[in-house]
Amino acid sequence: MREDQPQKQPAAPAEKPAPQPGAHPVRMQKIPAHLEGCAALEKLCFREPWSAHSLELLCNDGIGVGYLCTGIPAPGAQPMVTAYGGMLITVDEGQITNIAVHPDYRQRGLGNAVLRALLKHAKAAHLGRVTLEVRPSNTAALALYKKNGFAEVGRRRGFYTKPTEDAVIMEIRLK
Ligand SMILES: CC(C)(COP(=O)(O)OP(=O)(O)OC[C@H]1O[C@@H](n2cnc3c(N)ncnc32)[C@H](O)[C@@H]1OP(=O)(O)O)[C@@H](O)C(=O)NCCC(=O)NCCS
Repeated sequence: MREDQPQKQPAAPAEKPAPQPGAHPVRMQKIPAHLEGCAALEKLCFREPWSAHSLELLCNDGIGVGYLCTGIPAPGAQPMVTAYGGMLITVDEGQITNIAVHPDYRQRGLGNAVLRALLKHAKAAHLGRVTLEVRPSNTAALALYKKNGFAEVGRRRGFYTKPTEDAVIMEIRLK
């Protein structure tokens, strides 16, 4: 997985917004329905965000899949993408490329829901294993992956830049 440091953090709300209709984690949709919303979330979460076009290639080329959660921030407002994740598929292996949750909607189960949707897809596709890379300093992501059965299987020295950091390679075996 690539750069995982937030590019910018919006001002923290006084308190977490109450869950809204449509923000429920089980309401997963595939990415192509909300490409621009995912690209907007990328800009909020990553220094080198993927464009809507890159996300479309990930999901529409038969090489990958993405799932997302949407929420309705205010009565009458348009749905927004609150969380999404993507996975490349090579023969019988999955590689999770992106998982991002809107800063205002973290720690309410959305990251977990997106990861579980990707793993469910991997099992249904009979993949043998799913891998990902993560910064060792990204304690939230590391905890999320360990909670879902991923284990460290190696390191890539100096994989990340700005700041330079190794990548922890994590894997879950499905067969
Ligand atoms: C990592 C990220 C996806 C987690 O999403 P989230 O919706 O906040 O996570 P959830 O609420 O589903 O939490 C699931 C588990 O993740 C772990 N976790 C989430 N946030 C955490 C935090 N701030 N500190 C420690 N553990 C945390 C916990 O194990 C949690 O399980 P628990 O609630 O039973 O303790 C989110 O913080 C994010 O988008 N970060 C920026 C982008 C990023 O770094 N992506 C990963 C790239 S490798």
